Amino acid sequence: MTIKFSLNGETVAVDTAPTVTLLDWLRENRGLTGTKEGCNEGDCGACTVMITDENGARALNACILFLPQLHGKSVRTVEGMSGPDGAMHPVQSAMVEKHGSQCGFCTPGFVVSMAVGHLNGRTDHDNVVAGNLCRCTGYAPIVRAAEAAEGADVPTWMTDEAPSVEALGYAPETADELATWYEAHPKGTLIAGATDVGLWVTKGLKDLGDVAFLNRCRDLQSISVGDDTINIGAGVTMATLLPLLRETHPSYAEMVRRYGSEQVRQAATIGGNVANGSPIGDNPPALIALKATMDLRKGDSRRTILVEDFFLEYGKQDRAPGEFVEGITIPKSAPNLRCYKISKRFDQDISAVCGCFDVTVAGGVVADVRVAFGGMAGTPMRAKNVEDALLGQPWTQATIEQAMAKFEQDFTPMSDMRASADYRLQTAQNMLQRYFLELSGESVSVLEVQP
Ligand SMILES: Cc1cc2nc3c(=O)[nH]c(=O)nc-3n(C[C@H](O)[C@H](O)[C@H](O)COP(=O)(O)OP(=O)(O)OC[C@H]3O[C@@H](n4cnc5c(N)ncnc54)[C@H](O)[C@@H]3O)c2cc1C
Ligand code: FES
Ligand code: FES
Repeated sequence: MTIKFSLNGETVAVDTAPTVTLLDWLRENRGLTGTKEGCNEGDCGACTVMITDENGARALNACILFLPQLHGKSVRTVEGMSGPDGAMHPVQSAMVEKHGSQCGFCTPGFVVSMAVGHLNGRTDHDNVVAGNLCRCTGYAPIVRAAEAAEGADVPTWMTDEAPSVEALGYAPETADELATWYEAHPKGTLIAGATDVGLWVTKGLKDLGDVAFLNRCRDLQSISVGDDTINIGAGVTMATLLPLLRETHPSYAEMVRRYGSEQVRQAATIGGNVANGSPIGDNPPALIALKATMDLRKGDSRRTILVEDFFLEYGKQDRAPGEFVEGITIPKSAPNLRCYKISKRFDQDISAVCGCFDVTVAGGVVADVRVAFGGMAGTPMRAKNVEDALLGQPWTQATIEQAMAKFEQDFTPMSDMRASADYRLQTAQNMLQRYFLELSGESVSVLEVQP
């Protein structure tokens, strides 16, 4: 099957196995070695490229991007950042003027992230480059360069048009086509954003067998806002969801702002995060606290379950072969929802512990409570003993302290490279204290608390 896309302004047609990454192909088949390989797992941003389609331009990591994901899109690498006559892009000139580069290994990735940010009129430069790691220069000169380029016009060569293309057999265009494909290939692997699956190939060296790519499946990419609920298609990326969450669930949004990096959020889907079943995925605790439901489909039969019931045990979810996630439904409003993510690095890191709380207090008494955690057990799950200790009790410091003691009954966390068991338990307890203080109107964010 021929994959067709535009590369630095020129249409290319490629016949290849579906799990060849863009990074390998650029470097090995096209000699475009400006795109660097640092980590090969989405962490460092050295391989950042610009992808443009009908939804606009975004920065993605080429190391965990499979070629079929580019079908009908435009790719611009660092070689395509300067003009055909060699004129530098404004962010490149600014990087020179502001001394934004030393060894230069990270620089191509930074330049692409910054150029995409520039094209999209972004001025939140810290977020734009949080997924690009620099060991030598430090971020201050790089951010100064991004600021210096803010007012410059977007160069004409940065506007790309994607080629029109035929459908690919392994990239269903509708949910019906996907249902048919998956019933016929129940052992096949679905690939949405590939931010988890990509690593199975680049790090796990796994042969995925039959694969289907979901990124052309429009039915899975819509968000519908009803009177009381929001239905989010499984294929909606975290970057697409973020602006809506900022309006409806600001604390959840703040957690998503720290979800991977710009490049990861632009690829990672909510359906992939839940379906992957990781005990440290960030969406599940928030969704469980929100009492969210998920729609599953196999062929023509559909069912809806609570997200909390999807996670059966470590590595095992309530999903039959050939069954896929169509969407997730959350309440439109949950003013008391708070999501706390603790990770070793503030940005671009997986949670050590993620705690989400939603408590309703009526007449000074806890009328409803949902407390859900990731990183505390083999699956994301509710802290039922903590909830029981809160429900029906006065919303006071004394109640909080009694409930904090119950975490030990809910969880026996493990020690690993991210955190020790003791740290996890104490952190979870402290989160409940933090929640109580935050709902009482105190500043509890490390970004807000002043010495
Ligand atoms: C550098 C980096 C940082 C990350 N940071 C975070 C983080 O901060 N927080 C976090 O939670 N995660 C993080 N992740 C993990 C990952 O980004 C998320 O789990 C992501 O949401 C997965 O979505 P995806 O679309 O990329 O899934 P994919 O990798 O495409 O798929 C993941 C799994 O879900 C299955 N799947 C996908 N869509 C469906 C569907 N519709 N129905 C059924 N099964 C489906 C796939 O078959 C696969 O088993 C990070 C990953 C990387 C590489
Ligand atoms: S090589 Fe590090 S993110 Fe791709
Ligand atoms: S300049 Fe060396 S890693 Fe950034």
